[in-house]
Amino acid sequence: MITTERIEAAKEKFGQLLVEQLQRVEQMKAQGDFIDYKALDQIIIGVCGGDGIGPAITGQAQRVLEYLLADDVKAGKVAFRVIDGLTIERRAAENAAIPTAVLEELKKCHVILKGPTTTPRKGDPWPNVESANVAMRKELDLFANVRPVKIPEQGIDWTFFRENTEGAYAVGSKGVHVTEDLGVDFTVVTSQGTERIIRAAFEFAKNNGKTRVTAVTKANIIKTTDGKFLDIFREIAKEYPQIEADDWYIDIMTAKLVDEKRRKDFQVLVLPNLYGDILTDEAAEFQGGVGTAGSANLGKRYSMFEAIHGSAPRMVDEGRDIYADPSSVIRAGAMLLAHIGYNKEADKLYRALEICTVKEKKLVITGRNTGATSAAFADYLMETISNMN
Ligand code: IPM
Ligand code: MG
Repeated sequence: MITTERIEAAKEKFGQLLVEQLQRVEQMKAQGDFIDYKALDQIIIGVCGGDGIGPAITGQAQRVLEYLLADDVKAGKVAFRVIDGLTIERRAAENAAIPTAVLEELKKCHVILKGPTTTPRKGDPWPNVESANVAMRKELDLFANVRPVKIPEQGIDWTFFRENTEGAYAVGSKGVHVTEDLGVDFTVVTSQGTERIIRAAFEFAKNNGKTRVTAVTKANIIKTTDGKFLDIFREIAKEYPQIEADDWYIDIMTAKLVDEKRRKDFQVLVLPNLYGDILTDEAAEFQGGVGTAGSANLGKRYSMFEAIHGSAPRMVDEGRDIYADPSSVIRAGAMLLAHIGYNKEADKLYRALEICTVKEKKLVITGRNTGATSAAFADYLMETISNMN
């Protein structure tokens, strides 16, 4: 093909992306407010195991949540639904990021507890399907990725509000190879998508006694999209005069997070998708690694809670999945409980996790038969909770 034809083909693709993104804008405009869980007759909690060790550890998390919510499960106010099939095998067979039947089931729930899923990389035996995580965030419009990082003894108490549906991820799998030599990816920002994440960060700050919200961009260089994010941040900040609002560029912010004198001062951070992805891994590392962090993916209609570690397929191959550490997905379960209004139960679970993994630590999980099984760990948690009242 000659160059002008290539350019025309690329323009065609770009035009299609614009149509899709403008449709998304219309959908956001039409969106109502956040769902009110109290107004529901029944809250449906989907438990979606995913790949590798996922089904084993989410199964244990479900046991613990069912134990904490036993009365309301019995009364029919809460129901659990196990959703199978979000596996790389099924996704490969259907050549879909999320199999159709799984997506249908997910949409019947209000909140979802999700295990890890495998994202194919170049060279893997799987077709290059989109990440199930990214697809779920888009399909269920889970626009706020909330990731808390707390290290009390160091005075660290950060809450990251990562935009979860736009930026470099919006059309991340739809870049264009214009010629053999020229590849172009796109990054997307919308007024509606930016406003809702920034407002969520300020509202969280206001409702949780936080006094500072920090935006992180690279608006000095990425002038259109990051520039817009920052402009909207400054506008919305005016509505919250009691909260200090400042902004940093991602490079210096990455450095400041290791500055022990300054980092304590950050409280709530709001940032575009890719910067949020990177900075939250750095932050979680201070807390003990990404495996210790839970993550909430919040939308107006649906929300999903997950651990941010991988699916460890080798553990399954070696028959060790029963020894996998379920504590991060259980921590994600605690975030889920708090989100749907079970604050007392969430609190108990956080306390029990602290006792069982730090203070008392009667059982140790090693990932193999030298340590406890995930089921024994869940038993230990429940026993700890039963001794709490
Ligand atoms: C995360 C992960 C995902 C992301 C991957 C698994 C697609 O790194 O949740 O941070 O890039 O968002
Ligand atoms: Mg990440």
